Amino acid sequence: MRHHERVSFGSRLGAILAAAGSAVGLGNIWRFPFEAGNHGGAAFILIYLGCVFIFGLPIMISEFIIGRHSKASTGRAYAVLAPGTPWKWVGYLGVLTGFLILGYYSVVSGWTLEYIFQAATGGFSGKTPDEFVAMFNDFSKDPLRPLLWLFVFMGLTHFVIVKGVKSGIEKSSKIMMPLLFVLIILLAVCSIMLPGAGKGIEFLLKPDFSKVTSDVFLGAMGQAFFSLSLGMGCLSTYASYFSKDIRLGHTAMSVGLIDTCVSVLAGLVIFPAAFSVGIQPDAGPSLIFITLPNVFQQAFGNIPALAYICAVAFYVLLALAALTSTISLHEVATAFLHEKFQFSRGKAARLISCLCLLIGIVASLSLGDWSEYRIASLTIFDALDFLTAKIMLPFGGMLAAIFVGWFLNRKIVRDEVTNNGRIKAPYYSLFLFILKFVAPIGISFIFINELGWLG
Ligand code: TRP
Repeated sequence: MRHHERVSFGSRLGAILAAAGSAVGLGNIWRFPFEAGNHGGAAFILIYLGCVFIFGLPIMISEFIIGRHSKASTGRAYAVLAPGTPWKWVGYLGVLTGFLILGYYSVVSGWTLEYIFQAATGGFSGKTPDEFVAMFNDFSKDPLRPLLWLFVFMGLTHFVIVKGVKSGIEKSSKIMMPLLFVLIILLAVCSIMLPGAGKGIEFLLKPDFSKVTSDVFLGAMGQAFFSLSLGMGCLSTYASYFSKDIRLGHTAMSVGLIDTCVSVLAGLVIFPAAFSVGIQPDAGPSLIFITLPNVFQQAFGNIPALAYICAVAFYVLLALAALTSTISLHEVATAFLHEKFQFSRGKAARLISCLCLLIGIVASLSLGDWSEYRIASLTIFDALDFLTAKIMLPFGGMLAAIFVGWFLNRKIVRDEVTNNGRIKAPYYSLFLFILKFVAPIGISFIFINELGWLG
């Protein structure tokens, strides 16, 4: 592909599925349950849903506008739309954010490969809940094994990226996403039927507002941005490949709904099972890795073959969901180097893969041998997660909202959401109001409240 040629996603469904492929990933199945568990369950989920609909969808449409109109990856999009202004730094910030996320996200993606391996080689059979906890702890603290899987996973991501946008991303999303969805529904049903699962359902559905602190708001907002792939121009880079007849509002709504359904379903798999086998919901990043194997063991205990197939299939699909997300993160950085510095795509991709591996290695070791190195009492892994998901993404998203709400020519905005007047966008005024006022004020308020920036 030469520098100025831009391929585009073949169909509307392809565009939705590719964006949903970016959005649905470890954020839904790994991060959502542990954040919800850390923040008390149902009340967190309600606030999360509020963040998705009030901030998430309008900001997603903004990113689509920025990407499709500029026809450039996020690193250059602002420079194209607002040449000669400092807005270009928002694009660069996005590239940096995505790059940092890719670093630690690949570590967890690597864990999914270890669990495929364990599931496939019978490593789950006959284990008790305590043994699953020990198994995860031994693995994640091991100095070598997680690194091995990290390398493998980064290699896979790299391979898809150098094969190009259309064939790689679109094809893999179309098949895997629906399969994953079906399997999660099946697992949710199994989990709910476990003995003592009722407490978990209560935890998910019965909000206790007395536990809501400003920390819960920051957590829910960060999770919304993380899960929807917002705030760093990932979806705007994808939108730069959207053709003119893709309906931006409709696409955002579809992606938001798919993503939210997967998260809530993941909650319905994890919490009933966790309560059933006595795992604390606030176990943190290990939560799904110590809870899920119990579901396979207990729900299908009488039919070992079924337990085996479901476990292997689940981790394979989880790894693929992670892959469609790492691809999207990698694509932003690769496209940036390719467009800005005229690197070939291969060279750009190699550079990004190697640098992300370094971050991943540090993040991975920080859970074991290097756990004494802390930043404000967080391990490097946790600090990366906090900084990117809870600070950089909401901040980047807020700037995107301000850019489209206040700076971008109104005609461009209108033309983009109505496809040059060919479709209606009844939400237009509300959308602008949110971008201009609600999102900037709301996000700043949550920041100030939690981080005390005003002292
Ligand atoms: N949303 C993905 C997930 O839930 C992760 C992800 C992909 C992401 N691209 C992103 C997060 C961009 C933030 C920004 O797993």
